[in-house]
Parts: sequence; C-alpha cells; structure tokens
Amino acid sequence: MTESGLAETGLIESGPAKPATRRLFFALWPDDATRNALNRTGKWLHQHWGGRRMRADTLHLTLVFLGDLPAAQIDALLQGIQNIPIGAFELNLDQTGHWPHNRIGWLGLSQPSQTLESLVRALRDQLRILDIPFDARPHTPHITLLRKAPGGAAPECLPVNWGVDRFVLVASNPQADGAHYDVLQTWRLAKQ
Ligand code: 2AM
Repeated sequence: MTESGLAETGLIESGPAKPATRRLFFALWPDDATRNALNRTGKWLHQHWGGRRMRADTLHLTLVFLGDLPAAQIDALLQGIQNIPIGAFELNLDQTGHWPHNRIGWLGLSQPSQTLESLVRALRDQLRILDIPFDARPHTPHITLLRKAPGGAAPECLPVNWGVDRFVLVASNPQADGAHYDVLQTWRLAKQ
C-alpha cells in the first residue's frame, strides 16, 4: 500500500500540513542592546501617541518585502542570496514619524543612509536574477513601533545608534495577538 493509502487507513500519521506559501521579508534584526533601546523608544512614543505597541521581539527594519512565496522556492532563495558587497555600518535612528493613512508610529532616519540604500539595491538586484518577485516601491526605512496610533505633535526623541553587521530573512505568521516572526537565515555583512 502507498504511504498516502496508509494515511487514509489511519495506519500512519500524515503529520501537519506544510504551508504552500510563506510570507517573507528581508530585514535588519536588532541585537539585544539595540532591541532594548528601540523598545524604550516605543514605550516613550506610546505615551505621546497611544495606539498598540509592537512587542519587543518583533522590532525590525524591513529591507525588502517579498510577500507570499511558494515554499518550494525558499531553498533557492536561501542559497541564491550571497556575496552582498556591503560591509558593516552604523544607523543613527533619530526621527519619529506618524503615517495617518495606516496609523503607524515609527522611528527612522532624518538623513538617508547611502549604505542602507546600497544594501536594499543589492538585494533587489539579486532577487531579480533569481526571478523572485518583491515589492518594488521606493524603500522608506522605518521601524514600526506603534500600530493603530492616533498620532499627534511630533516629539523629538533620543537617537538610537544601531551598529549593523548582518541581515536576515524572516517568515511572518499572523496570530491573534499580532504577527509572530521566524528568522529563517542570517547573512553577515562583510565587504568582498
Ligand atoms: P510595516 O511595519 O510598515 O507594516 C512585515 O509585514 C514587514 O514588512 C513589516 O515591517 C511591514 O512594514 C513590511 N512591509 C513592507 N511592505 C509591505 C506590504 N506590502 N505588506 C505588508 N508588510 C509590508
């Protein structure tokens, strides 16, 4: 009898169904000290703007949003992204902002980071070569700290300095208490 036939008779466990697609994005994922600093900024911004604070373990800066990718393509993605020609760099997160259209309260950059933009461009170039689709709209670097935030006057914040030396691929799992994220792979930034 075939394995599927055995499963139908209940003789073997068929196991949990594997998802056909996964919702993916590349991101900068903070080290513990940076995560704590970002979380403190989220707490402070929440006092000004209200809304729902992002859980500390979810804080990140999205580099490229892929959306739903067939699970069968994930290995090609994990192996295909390599030799990104960017070294470690610093981000000075010194600007808060609120977007009325989606009621997000965020922390970002008052001055654009050329290195961050180069990293995003390099990832997009490799994704095009791999023929993996992504959200190609202009990249707006931000860390979402609040959702459903009414907003208000823009307070000046204490900057958070982030020493960036890696990036990650993340899978998002929507849950009742908000998205949970699995880091699937980490790439260290080391200029070739
Ligand atoms: P956001 O925090 O501003 O919503 C996972 O959803 C991550 O991908 C979040 O950082 C989210 O940004 C970002 N993202 C970028 N484009 C997206 C899109 N079209 N849909 C959902 N999330 C997107």
